[in-house]
Amino acid sequence: MKETEIDWANLSFSYMPTDYNVRCTYKDGKWGEIEVSDSEYVPLHIAASCLHYGQESFEGLKAFRGKDGKVRIFRMEENAKRFIRSAEGIKMQPMPVELFCEMVRKVVKLNERFIPPYGTGASLYIRPLEIGISARVGVKPADEYMVIMLVTPVGPYFKEGFKPTKVCMSREYDRVAPKGTGSIKVGGNYAASLVAGEKAHDLGYSVMLYIDPKEKKYLDECGAANFFGIKDNTYITPFSESILPSITNMSLTQLAEDLGMKVERRQIPVEELETFEEASACGTAAVCSPIGEIDDLDNGKKYIFSANGEAGPMTTALYNKLRGIQYGEEEDVHGWCEVID
Ligand code: PLP
Ligand code: COI
Repeated sequence: MKETEIDWANLSFSYMPTDYNVRCTYKDGKWGEIEVSDSEYVPLHIAASCLHYGQESFEGLKAFRGKDGKVRIFRMEENAKRFIRSAEGIKMQPMPVELFCEMVRKVVKLNERFIPPYGTGASLYIRPLEIGISARVGVKPADEYMVIMLVTPVGPYFKEGFKPTKVCMSREYDRVAPKGTGSIKVGGNYAASLVAGEKAHDLGYSVMLYIDPKEKKYLDECGAANFFGIKDNTYITPFSESILPSITNMSLTQLAEDLGMKVERRQIPVEELETFEEASACGTAAVCSPIGEIDDLDNGKKYIFSANGEAGPMTTALYNKLRGIQYGEEEDVHGWCEVID
């Protein structure tokens, strides 16, 4: 597709083909050279461990075209470190941080014409993934792996954009097990979330807010995003062994402190929702998506955070601060962005 034909300001969060992807294979005990491909397909052995036993992990990060025309990649070392933890969590070969970053820089540069122009609110989503490619019939880790990085330009994850969205919760669905794979980013977690996610959509909600799978008492996370609530000038986000440590949440926590707010990372009992002034989902795809209402499907209780259909003041301030840094409108005081030429 010609970039002049893309309606940048109205992109959704979906796949659009771009020019190239990059690949790197681990074989005979070492990582090979980075290869550039223009194919959207991967040749796989029919017994590959990723196909049978779910040896797959992925990441998600973004590149932004700034106010000054420069391209910024947000916190890619943090994604590289999480990619290592995910690989280790399912016995795959971890990719060194520097090689991961080199692949990210390369795939962004190769697809530069797909980085949305400044002012459109869109960005280039980068999706690294790792798969086990050795043939396995017994349940055993592969000894050969492939890392692929593809990119696609994206708009907002929730169709509401920065308008408050409605979410639901239910004790009937767990995304992950208490000591399972919830804190790493492996494909199986997302397969396991599809039934609950589709149920939420069918009922008219954006997403399922999960309750902790162990005690069924505390808030966990919000589909493919973390949760935070605000009250008494305090940013409160769940502490749980079954949620993915979000890089966006980590960044917003720092920005909340910069804005003079207190920060608490702790268990949040479901009933405490009644006391929150604002609530939001946060993640690379979701950025910071205000939640207007949370409905408890098990008892009919409704928690309302936005009576006027607008995001609350603290969520708005945090969102603006984060976007400001990503689009080069604000000084990157924490050194989160890598500027590439
Ligand atoms: N939680 C889950 C389950 C996710 O898939 C994601 C997306 O990566 C997040 C939270 C947000 O994490 P991050 O801010 O690092 O993108
Ligand atoms: C992200 O925020 O990068 C995610 O991974 C969400 C995604 C699963 C769509």
